Amino acid sequence: MKPVMVATWNFGVKAVSKGMDILLSGGSALDAVEEGIKVVEDDLEVLSVGLGGLPNVEGEVELDASIMDGGTLRCGAVGALKDIRHPISVARKVMELTPHVLLVGEGALKFALRCGFKRERFWKPGSRERWEEMLENLRKGKYEVESFYGRVWKAVGGLWKETVSAVALDAKGCMAAGNSTTGLFMKMPGRVGDSAVIGAGLYVDNRVGGAVTTGTGEVAINYCLSKRVCDLMASGLNPKEACEKAIAETLYRRNFDGGIAVLALNNKGEVGAAHSLKEFVYAYQDGGMDKPELRKVERFSGC
Ligand code: GLY
Repeated sequence: MKPVMVATWNFGVKAVSKGMDILLSGGSALDAVEEGIKVVEDDLEVLSVGLGGLPNVEGEVELDASIMDGGTLRCGAVGALKDIRHPISVARKVMELTPHVLLVGEGALKFALRCGFKRERFWKPGSRERWEEMLENLRKGKYEVESFYGRVWKAVGGLWKETVSAVALDAKGCMAAGNSTTGLFMKMPGRVGDSAVIGAGLYVDNRVGGAVTTGTGEVAINYCLSKRVCDLMASGLNPKEACEKAIAETLYRRNFDGGIAVLALNNKGEVGAAHSLKEFVYAYQDGGMDKPELRKVERFSGC
């Protein structure tokens, strides 16, 4: 079978490039997704993913990540995890070593340390400055809405919700999906987004395909978006049709201000995406290509 990997946003190119090296040398979809995402977590220029990126309103970076194996349907996730460089790898340990799916906060950190992950703390260049600037703007009342968190929500607008989210299909026909993010910039402490919620931020099943999201996590959680897309593909829709139908459903009630994107890969290697953001791109590579290409997706016409 021809391997394929997709990942969200411009930085998805680096994730796919690393993941495809693994897939083309006979590695598993699970390894491709984990190792690809780790590259973005380590990238000092990406402030919306990884330790040292954009923090919550109190200046603490709380990381969300999850991973899923499409063969067994086993999955693992961490939410509001502090001080660990590779939350995607902790999520994988949750999947492989515990009887649980999701560990959060202090418990997730304790588990990571017990697994041998090192405790670290640093700021990526520009991250602290953006936090201080945003706090200053909020103090000056530049963003007028009733509550403090209302002002935060308004201030961050469409910014900094760029999750690295990936789906891979390996040469044996096995699939995996994963994602990792610092979450919404200036979020409330303890807020966990879609990237840690199986069915919302990701879902994958070898019998059908996989889907992942990026954007306003609350939207993906509210509509169980990734699982919804997989169910629609299982009912016979191709990935593009499934993504568009699911996005149309999120727009029907408009419960949240922010937009969302969903990216899907089925078990035949077909890809589709749809979104209600200002813009959305993803990286794609299959076994016939020597490097990833970036694909732009037009905003869903029903927005
Ligand atoms: N999708 C990223 C987040 O909302 O946390």
